[in-house]
Amino acid sequence: MNQKHIWILLPLITLACVSVGPRFAAGEELDDATKARIAKAEAGAQTVDVSHYPKEIQENYQIFSEKCTQCHKLSRPINSDYALPSEWERYVKRMMHKPGSGIDSDSGKKIYEFLVYDSSIRKKSLVDAKLEKASPDERKSDEDKIKEIHQKYDSK
Ligand code: HEC
Repeated sequence: MNQKHIWILLPLITLACVSVGPRFAAGEELDDATKARIAKAEAGAQTVDVSHYPKEIQENYQIFSEKCTQCHKLSRPINSDYALPSEWERYVKRMMHKPGSGIDSDSGKKIYEFLVYDSSIRKKSLVDAKLEKASPDERKSDEDKIKEIHQKYDSK
């Protein structure tokens, strides 16, 4: 191989490392509590039955299944204890900011709205229990967001 080839290969190798790197990050140096949480989540449901959800929520579910399986299984968010709009807002943003996530704000919003809608039905008792413990302000803000998202999608 002559020198010219190196200059063509180097950027390609760098690009490969940068794009593959984040996919392994999820498995690195985890403490026991985190490992237990991952094992519990992954032992649960791998998909959500969205057949009774509005059509647009079903479409958002497709985006969620595509974007949120790049670094870990979908069962992580499906079986997690996050359920409130405020929790999903923080978490989706955190995932969007991970290197290489490739989730733009439009997809992020659709995924967030899917997760809030789905939690309000599939994790209803968890949502209610969390709302009970929240401060009056937080409670009102979360309840308003759930209502807003239902109004947006249920009419279609
Ligand atoms: C670029 C890689 C990447 C993508 C894409 C990604 N995640 Fe993650 N996710 C991680 C990593 C790394 C962790 C573990 C560390 C952490 O919690 O920050 C994680 C952990 C999680 C957890 C578990 C947190 C806990 O405390 O149990 C949830 C829930 C989650 N992700 C949801 C999502 C959702 C929803 C999406 C899609 C919007 C998504 N992830 C997309 C990398 C990613």
